Amino acid sequence: MSTEIVNVCEYEEAAKRKLPKMVFDYYASGAEDEWSLKENRHAFERIRFRPRILIDVTSVDLSTTVLGFKISMPIMVAPTAMQRMAHPEGELATARAAAAAGTIMTLSSWATSSVEEVASVGPGIRFFQLYVYKDRNVVAQLVRRAERAGFKAIALTVDTPRLGRRESDIKNRFSLPPHLTLKNFEGLDLGHMEKTSDSGLASYVAGQIDRSLSWKDVKWLQTITRLPILVKGVLTAEDTKLALQAGAAGIIVSNHGARQLDYVPATISALEEVVQAASGRVPVFLDGGVRRGTDVLKALALGASGVFIGRPVVFSLACEGEAGVKKVLQMLRDEFELAMALAGCTKIKDINRSHVQTESERLGLTSRL
Ligand code: FNR
Ligand code: LAC
Repeated sequence: MSTEIVNVCEYEEAAKRKLPKMVFDYYASGAEDEWSLKENRHAFERIRFRPRILIDVTSVDLSTTVLGFKISMPIMVAPTAMQRMAHPEGELATARAAAAAGTIMTLSSWATSSVEEVASVGPGIRFFQLYVYKDRNVVAQLVRRAERAGFKAIALTVDTPRLGRRESDIKNRFSLPPHLTLKNFEGLDLGHMEKTSDSGLASYVAGQIDRSLSWKDVKWLQTITRLPILVKGVLTAEDTKLALQAGAAGIIVSNHGARQLDYVPATISALEEVVQAASGRVPVFLDGGVRRGTDVLKALALGASGVFIGRPVVFSLACEGEAGVKKVLQMLRDEFELAMALAGCTKIKDINRSHVQTESERLGLTSRL
């Protein structure tokens, strides 16, 4: 029997066989009943294509521009914490793979490699994901370091005033293995995670992260950095409008990989509401459940300027290191290119709302035709 991995989801199964249970469960799990986790996938499955035919698709151009940066495809790397639990090279391997694929990597605040180490792997467009600590000096220092290390934007995560309840982390007494540190915080004495009687990460968040974070802090952030700010974790039109007022350079429609509030909609279901509220003033991105090239095509047809992938990166990293992450990015690229060709799109700008039919349209609840 062949064990060749031919799609992104198969990396998850392979990683499950390879990783210690505590690590796999941390990467894979969602909050509570994991309804939103399943829904992130199911909602993609409910969307159908309306492909166009007899269009010359001899060449298909996947390249696009994000915040003025030209990238090879609208598929980018989401921030996922603690990648050295997956592979000894951790975030450095991911950074090399993303750069080789010509796309953007977002580095987590809670990486097990520092902003400087990641920058040292060589050229590449990188964003920095920010968690706001109660101690704002910590934040200001970190943002300055990310700027100096050449990061091009801040993805401000706004859905985590407290950590979602992930029951396997509680059962496994999850914490960062002691030979690793949250590298960006090492010198600040905030790099270690205590083992607790439940989730060590939940306790760390409760101790350090500022629950009072609000829109005025988005403005404050703009006083300490000139980098564009992407607000990561928006699911409603109301918050999209507030993000625009607060000066966001872009919105990431995200439910944090369904790890925070359970029973929020799938991100692909919330996307259009956000796109409409943004009304073209800033780009809207999506993450959550993207596992196929067809998912990318659906997200772009519903108005996203690009997508980010989270778990596929850590699972492929666990299985094959840098080569694995490269393969996942290549698989999604190849699938997306094929899907574009079969739908009659030769460039990103060709993809539009008429290429998809949502469930409510199919049921006749709404109509666009
Ligand atoms: C995350 N995510 C996340 N988000 C963030 O802003 N900072 C972080 O440090 C992390 N860490 C993290 C770890 C792990 C293991 C996962 C699975 C997720 C959320 C991440 O950026 C993204 O929103 C989701 O992962 C997207 O969903 P998929 O692609 O994993 O389905
Ligand atoms: C998580 C945090 C680190 O989802 O964002 O585990």
